[in-house]
Amino acid sequence: MTKNLFIGSIQINLNEVDSTNNYARQLVRDKTPIEGTLVVAKDQISGRGQRSNSWVSEPNMNLTCSYILRPVFLAAKDQFILSASVALAVFETISALLPNEDVKVKWPNDVLVNGKKIAGILIENVLRGPNLETSIIGIGINVNQVRFPTSLNPTSIKLITDSNVKTAAVLDLLSTQLERFYLQLREGKLDELLGLLNSNLFGSGIVMNLQVNDQIESVIIVGVEKTGELRLEHSNGTQTLHLHHEINWQLKL
Ligand code: BTN
Repeated sequence: MTKNLFIGSIQINLNEVDSTNNYARQLVRDKTPIEGTLVVAKDQISGRGQRSNSWVSEPNMNLTCSYILRPVFLAAKDQFILSASVALAVFETISALLPNEDVKVKWPNDVLVNGKKIAGILIENVLRGPNLETSIIGIGINVNQVRFPTSLNPTSIKLITDSNVKTAAVLDLLSTQLERFYLQLREGKLDELLGLLNSNLFGSGIVMNLQVNDQIESVIIVGVEKTGELRLEHSNGTQTLHLHHEINWQLKL
């Protein structure tokens, strides 16, 4: 059980659910769950990913959970830094479990180990005026699953270490790290959080083939801006800023 101040101090354990994000959203609509309430499912049958993708996870094998946050202090224009804080929490969790591996955050908020995806994040924000009101933070971490659809290039803790890890132990680490970075966000350390994200960014400073607005190009990833846009440098030396839907990584992840 977590020793946190509030993140994960109320935990709802479900055997089966369509999506922990859906369940958390319904809780916010029907009740007034306290900030930090955590929903965890053993089996998530219609897990949702970014860009309307699905998130498929074998029952009892992985971590599939959602946290309910109320970041009312955060301006909507700074909402990417919440996403960065969550990515850093997952990054630190995986780094603690796999200290000898190359762990990176792939923009905007996937976590990769040795170039393969181990975790995904789906954040759903509700705004009120110029600020955020509620945020559902959905996190999926591949823990003990070893077989995945061949169309993907995923990995898991078990595939890397060859040993089983209790999902509850991963969850404890995750809640601790999420509280740590969320408190930094609340203290206004936005530049520090963005700096930390950029220093652990997948592909940073490396020439990569990316599909940028339908055209495959060799570009250098310069970094992520406070707005969440990705800054790229082109072969002619010019730099451009991009939103998530403008970039296709040419990687199966
Ligand atoms: C992605 O990489 O596309 C994001 C995947 C997010 C998956 C998690 S699992 C728990 C939570 N509930 C969902 O339906 N999705 C998120």
